[in-house]
Amino acid sequence: MARGGAADGPAILARELSKRYPGPTPEDPGTLAVDRLTFEVRRGEIFGLLGPNGAGKTTTILMLLGLTEPTSGEARVLGHDPAREPLAVKRRVGYLPDSVGFYDDLTAEENLLYTADLNGIAADEAARRARERLREVGLEYARHTRVGAFSRGMRQRLGVADALLKDPEVLILDEPTLGIDPEGVRDMLALIRELAGRRGLAVLVSSHLLHQVQEICDRVGIFVGGRLVAAGRVEELAARLFGGEPVEVEVRLCRADERARDAIAKLPFVRDVRPGDDPRTLRATCEARAPGAGGEPDEPGARLARALVEAGFDIVGLSVRGRGLDDIYHRYFEGAEPGREARGSLAGRARSLDAGRPRDGAADEAAAGPVGAFVGRLRRLLPGKGGDGR
Ligand SMILES: Nc1ncnc2c1ncn2[C@@H]1O[C@H](COP(=O)(O)OP(=O)(O)OP(=O)(O)O)[C@@H](O)[C@H]1O
Ligand SMILES: [Mg+2]
Repeated sequence: MARGGAADGPAILARELSKRYPGPTPEDPGTLAVDRLTFEVRRGEIFGLLGPNGAGKTTTILMLLGLTEPTSGEARVLGHDPAREPLAVKRRVGYLPDSVGFYDDLTAEENLLYTADLNGIAADEAARRARERLREVGLEYARHTRVGAFSRGMRQRLGVADALLKDPEVLILDEPTLGIDPEGVRDMLALIRELAGRRGLAVLVSSHLLHQVQEICDRVGIFVGGRLVAAGRVEELAARLFGGEPVEVEVRLCRADERARDAIAKLPFVRDVRPGDDPRTLRATCEARAPGAGGEPDEPGARLARALVEAGFDIVGLSVRGRGLDDIYHRYFEGAEPGREARGSLAGRARSLDAGRPRDGAADEAAAGPVGAFVGRLRRLLPGKGGDGR
């Protein structure tokens, strides 16, 4: 279904996008939170914007949503410029902010109905969608539960339901797994993958959990100190970042004796071989690529395995280290400048697409008036389902 707005182009596009937050005085250069960021997210793709605290992930997302203006560069979401057409973007993009705010005194369903109302969705359609979304995110059982009684993971799920309410074409999730326990993280990621696949959404997910989140991403961008240091499919990235560097291959044999050690040492792509951590393993430092004659694999691990088997050794296990995600992680995440920890006013983060809707810490309480009116209407529509969750 063509809904207009560059139907064939990428769903999200950033070109040389930059954001400098001003400092407290005119002399202060402020904070360059995002520095010439270029990337795109295609339709039907999950893209992970992965980086440590203060990398500029939230700032990027706020620019894509038209909630903060870029200092320079260009952004397009479904063909719209978010700075000029924020409402067009809002209509077609579901957003899970980094801290989801709901009305604690309202039930899960009532909160969704309120969002639907803000989005101008007619009451009967809103009721249908609210139930369906709650089912989709696995919260049907908590439909009439007061959100104040929700766990962190339940809130995040409700946040996803909320973001899906308007049937978006693009989903932007800012740290969807924040504060959830490891099992909850896996569930949440599986849910995102499943929803994205079923609905054919373009998904941008930000996280500092490279390990977990990359598993559901078609592509990732490694974002540190406002700069995209690498982007691509995870395997490509590993190859590109560590392509020229030696690889450690650890092989476990039935008998890791001197003969096996010699057989490994004489391979042309092996630099060094030594005993591993236990008596049955040998560890070899190999060239990154092991170019061989006619059709031989150039993966050093594969070549080593083949050579050992051909020489009559039985392999129990084999692992290749040195260019995996662990190394990407150490290189870019743990080595990230600690001085770039998030600092300064967080006011800009607290804004939401849904005006009048409080997010944690947001000073939006003044919106209680229209909310009160809405709740009154809601209670009349839903007799017997008080906002206290009982
Ligand atoms: N409203 C603001 N005013 C001034 N500086 C800000 C503002 N928001 C963010 N910053 C600064 O911009 C940089 C990037 O922050 P941002 O929140 O975008 O990073 P992040 O990657 O989302 O971090 P986190 O993982 O902690 O959520 C940080 O140095 C932060 O202190
Ligand atoms: Mg953030």
